Amino acid sequence: MIAIESVCKHYGEASVVAGVSLTLAPGGVTAIIGPNGAGKSTLLSLVARLVPMSAGRVEVAGLDVTTTRGDILARHLSILRQDNHVGSRLTVRDLVAFGRYPHSKGRTTREDLVHVSSALAYLDLKDLAERFLDELSGGQRQRAFVAMLIAQDTEAVLLDEPLNNLDMVHASAMMKLVRRLADELGRTVVVVLHDVNFASCYCDHIVAMKNGRVCRQGPPEEIVTSEALHAIYGMQMQVRELDIPHLGVRRICLPYA
Ligand SMILES: Nc1ncnc2c1ncn2[C@@H]1O[C@H](COP(=O)(O)OP(=O)(O)OP(=O)(O)O)[C@@H](O)[C@H]1O
Ligand SMILES: [Mg+2]
Repeated sequence: MIAIESVCKHYGEASVVAGVSLTLAPGGVTAIIGPNGAGKSTLLSLVARLVPMSAGRVEVAGLDVTTTRGDILARHLSILRQDNHVGSRLTVRDLVAFGRYPHSKGRTTREDLVHVSSALAYLDLKDLAERFLDELSGGQRQRAFVAMLIAQDTEAVLLDEPLNNLDMVHASAMMKLVRRLADELGRTVVVVLHDVNFASCYCDHIVAMKNGRVCRQGPPEEIVTSEALHAIYGMQMQVRELDIPHLGVRRICLPYA
């Protein structure tokens, strides 16, 4: 469970997150959508305490993120950042093993190895495990970072644009993995997406941000409408209902007006 209460972030005079309150239930997938600069990444960074908040309060798994020790928080909350910077002379396996650090503190156990191995398998990375990160394509590297998060094995999982660099097949596999994290492992997953159709197909709840505030929120059928999308993006879009195998009837938007 993630509870965000009246969270604000100012940079000088600029208010980039302006009083956001959200309650995100365990076992659910919440998409955050919205235009560039809306405050999506900043909100995730505030929840994960990567940047200090100007006002407000965030609780993750009952822990106040501002006062909880970093190593304890890292056992309950993991985050994929929009831009990842890490030494490229690290192998995929090393990176994924790094996700176990909050649990193992460097003393790797058999359980840690099992987590690393299953995270590599989840992300289809077994054949690339011994490659260095700078020998990977952008999409392969993105999957390696997500595997690190899976190995971290936390109740709350924040993913900032996990579909970056992924081809359609891997993007679809990533969203199915996100679903499994919530459905099979009961994780609270928050995922920033620019592709509203993936949000519509795979998420339980969509939060749309605009100018640092929550502009709309609700189930996909309430957010993926021409009217709501116009309010969020300021653009006229066509919306169609499609009966999609294994998913059922979903609303799909066509941003080609
Ligand atoms: N360190 C900073 N100093 C000043 N302004 C910042 C800083 N970081 C972000 N901003 C501003 O805050 C606003 C929100 O940025 P943020 O990265 O949260 O947007 P976003 O919704 O994630 O956008 P995108 O879809 O492009 O990733 C932007 O206007 C950005 O320029
Ligand atoms: Mg962003």
